[in-house]
Amino acid sequence: MRAIDALPCRVHVFVCANTRPPGGLPSCDQGGQGLFDALKLWALHNRHARTVWVTQTRCLGYCHAAGATLAFYYPGSSRKPVFLQAVTQSDLPEVVQRYIVAALAPPVA
Ligand code: FES
Repeated sequence: MRAIDALPCRVHVFVCANTRPPGGLPSCDQGGQGLFDALKLWALHNRHARTVWVTQTRCLGYCHAAGATLAFYYPGSSRKPVFLQAVTQSDLPEVVQRYIVAALAPPVA
C-alpha cells in the first residue's frame, strides 16, 4: 500500500443517487442520478475534469423525500466540507457557483 501525493483534485463532489423500495425511508432517487450526470458534464465542458471530481455514492446519511444530498470536500484547502440536502436541478446554477466555482477562484490577496 502507498499513499498518492499531489492529487490534482481541488473540489470533490459526492452525489447520492441511492434508491430504496417504496414504502420505507426516503432516498435520493428523486434526482440524484440526474444531478450526478449534470455535474459530471459541467466539469468536462468547463475543462475541470482533473480538478473537480464528481463521484456517485449511496446514502450519505441525510435522506430527504425531495431532491438529493450532495457533499463537497476541498482537498488541500482549509475550506470545511459542505453537505446540501434536497438539491434539485433548479438549484444547480447556484450550487455550482457557490460550492465549486468559488472554491476554484484564486484567493483574494
Ligand atoms: S438516500 Fe441519499 S442521503 Fe440517504
